[in-house]
Amino acid sequence: MEIAIEAQALDAGYRSGDRTLTVLSGLDLTVETGALLTILGPSGCGKSTFLRVVADLLDPLAGRISVLGEAPSAVRSRRDVGFVFQDSTLLPWRSVRDNIRLPLDVGQASLTRRIEDRTDDLLDMMGLGELADRFPHQLSGGQRQRVAIARALLGEPRLLLMDEPFGALDEITRDRLNDELLNLWRRTGATILFVTHSIAEAVYLGERVLVLSANPGRLLLDHDLRPVKQDGNRCRREDPDIVAAMATMRAALELAS
Ligand SMILES: Nc1ncnc2c1ncn2[C@@H]1O[C@H](COP(=O)(O)OP(=O)(O)O)[C@@H](O)[C@H]1O
Ligand SMILES: [Mg+2]
Repeated sequence: MEIAIEAQALDAGYRSGDRTLTVLSGLDLTVETGALLTILGPSGCGKSTFLRVVADLLDPLAGRISVLGEAPSAVRSRRDVGFVFQDSTLLPWRSVRDNIRLPLDVGQASLTRRIEDRTDDLLDMMGLGELADRFPHQLSGGQRQRVAIARALLGEPRLLLMDEPFGALDEITRDRLNDELLNLWRRTGATILFVTHSIAEAVYLGERVLVLSANPGRLLLDHDLRPVKQDGNRCRREDPDIVAAMATMRAALELAS
């Protein structure tokens, strides 16, 4: 088994002056390469903080973290990690195509791996071909998130970090993007960490669901859903096993808050 992420006794949080806010405490976690892991937890428990540490946007306070077998900074400099946030910040003055290409125009010089222009492939893959010349204000929320995902995929990242990417979308659009994400994951074999507030989304998408508790953030539940899913992480939302898993998550979340 290859390991994509390994955290050992990880503490993460924020320092300001001589004060330290410890958000995550003593986190031990191993994520297999190619896994699709979803993360639930009450607001403020440290979900985004954890993704920031993985992405090398924040140094751990203590403990160890390795990403794709290396320090997070090494992975970041090769652009092996893609990040998608809830409010994807597309540049309003650039077209869809130019937003997706953005990583080619900024920061190439500091990378240790050159990335190729796969913009046309990505426009196709994300169903954005017809929209390539539009500007962000001419897109729906779902279309904007698709652009953000395409941009995150430009460097063919081996690890994709998604922080409530569909949180602002209506349920039908969200369900559709969930299926697109699953297809993308099956095609690329990327490892995906996906934070969500939605129990239904966490259970539908995840091969494995983590529930974090707050103050300090700890791992409360680590639930493997592969036994109740078909090959390729397939399930139907109304399968009794899936409904039961959602109830388990709900109970854990109540404990966590
Ligand atoms: N840049 C920051 N500086 C100081 N505290 C922060 C910062 N970002 C987040 N926090 C605090 O860290 C805690 C965890 O935040 P976060 O990881 O964003 O939670 P979640 O994503 O689970 O909702 C919260 O109490 C939040 O207020
Ligand atoms: Mg967050």
